[in-house]
Amino acid sequence: MSQEIKSMFSRIAHHYDKMNRIMSLGIDTLWRKRAAKESMLDRDTLQVLDIATGTGDLAIEVCKEAEKEGKDVHVHALDFNEDMLKLAKKKLKKMSIRNVEVISGDALKTGFKERSFDVITSGFALRNFDDLGTFIMETKRVLKPGGKIVLLDVARPETKLLKFFQLYYFKIIPALGARYYNEDAYTYLVSSIWKFDKERLMKIVKDAGFRDPKITNLTLGAAFVLTATKPNVKRKSN
Ligand SMILES: C[S@@+](CC[C@H](N)C(=O)[O-])C[C@H]1O[C@@H](n2cnc3c(N)ncnc32)[C@H](O)[C@@H]1O
Repeated sequence: MSQEIKSMFSRIAHHYDKMNRIMSLGIDTLWRKRAAKESMLDRDTLQVLDIATGTGDLAIEVCKEAEKEGKDVHVHALDFNEDMLKLAKKKLKKMSIRNVEVISGDALKTGFKERSFDVITSGFALRNFDDLGTFIMETKRVLKPGGKIVLLDVARPETKLLKFFQLYYFKIIPALGARYYNEDAYTYLVSSIWKFDKERLMKIVKDAGFRDPKITNLTLGAAFVLTATKPNVKRKSN
């Protein structure tokens, strides 16, 4: 599965940003801004890991938000697809952003030491991971105590307008994909959106022992942000 996902993103990499804006009517940018705001822990310095960073848009939003809030941030932007990472590097260079470090790696086995990060973000990638349980345990391992996960993704909207979304997702998006880019990839992407089970994700996060798990629906539930905190270590009393 992950090899297929990797090849799929190589096929669409060059059109990925443009197609995101078209498919979401530009709203994906606002969703990332919202996730970036959620990532601002009450600490002056933040070590952030953006998992499945793709072309780097969420990592960049995190930097912009940190700058606004006067925080010192370093983002490690990880992805397993070199074609997406090349575009991320190009974009960061063009924008003269120096506090994002692009890293090649797997979301399920990042290779970082335990307790390395204050915050872990991930945007629009959960549907692609082979095993969400393994992914959540990996985030918990590399987070510092009191650290936060901020997971942004799209899912089946929760609205009476479901029929409209169904038409948009299953007819218009694949047609746009076919016209300009790659129909199979966009058919896969929309069906993965429809199948994604937010409540199952919530249960995995709770079962992993995170505190205060919360899902915030955005734009009639077409997207959501899940946040949760890794518990602080309890000190033994004598
Ligand atoms: C839909 S894109 C999201 C990109 C970016 N986060 C954004 O906000 O636009 C999904 C990304 O997940 C990456 N990905 C999927 N599975 C992965 C894995 N197991 N490890 C690392 N990256 C993965 C893909 O290579 C792709 O770049």
